[in-house]
Amino acid sequence: MSTDFVHANHVGFQYNEHSEVLHDISFNIKKNSFVSIVGPSGCGKSTLLNLLAGFFPSTKGTIKIDGEQVKKPSQDRGFVFQDLALFPWLTVYKNVEFGLKMQNFPKDKRDQKVRDMIELVGLTSYVDFPISSLSGGMKQRVALARTLVTEPSILLLDEPFSALDAQTRDVLQEELLSLHQQLSMTTVLVTHSIDEAIYLSDTVILLSKDGTLNEIVNIELEKPRDRTSSAYNDYQKRLYEFLRLERQQT
Ligand SMILES: Nc1ncnc2c1ncn2[C@@H]1O[C@H](COP(=O)(O)OP(=O)(O)OP(=O)(O)O)[C@@H](O)[C@H]1O
Ligand SMILES: [Mg+2]
Repeated sequence: MSTDFVHANHVGFQYNEHSEVLHDISFNIKKNSFVSIVGPSGCGKSTLLNLLAGFFPSTKGTIKIDGEQVKKPSQDRGFVFQDLALFPWLTVYKNVEFGLKMQNFPKDKRDQKVRDMIELVGLTSYVDFPISSLSGGMKQRVALARTLVTEPSILLLDEPFSALDAQTRDVLQEELLSLHQQLSMTTVLVTHSIDEAIYLSDTVILLSKDGTLNEIVNIELEKPRDRTSSAYNDYQKRLYEFLRLERQQT
């Protein structure tokens, strides 16, 4: 029986005194589950993910992760930024090692861990290549490896695959699913892609344009999922309809 790992309780947020971006958001996330946040552009998805990371505190309500109130960033929460924030002039190895260095992880044990993680994301032959020489998909793998090597208990991803072509995105979605299962960590993904959300998630959190929580949808399908099944398509229709209605709001 899995237990709740994240509790968001009546969370509200405003960047400045004039407008509140998020209003009264409450949800729970079970340990080791995969959750996506979906909603129209500008509704506050990235803001919510940043609050989960503790980059800034909520202005209303509370967020608890693993029983502790989130007030600041923690090494236990891994974040992959949309622009990846890699060091292009350094090698794959140095980029992945960076996370461990920041943690003051013992030097003698670092090497094996870095190499194991690079192998897990399939980049062993590129270990000494500079980032600037890699494809977009490979860079995304390095960004994942750099975050995962620190063994966070929760992985937060902000549209990690949005800049990639469709085929590379499909491959990386499979890899993320497999990493999620192998490393058993709670994962929260912000995505624009309804298909990505349904394919990967146990639960999809739908945010409305006005920054309120519209609905929490549990995707009750076995993984790996069959995109051609009628049940899969029913979820797609449901989420597309949600976005269509959101677009009609002014
Ligand atoms: N640093 C900031 N200061 C002031 N307002 C901000 C700031 N960052 C975001 N906002 C505003 O907060 C709202 C939510 O932004 P956010 O980036 O969370 O949306 P989003 O759902 O991630 O959008 P997208 O899908 O386009 O990435 C938007 O109206 C945005 O203009
Ligand atoms: Mg965003």
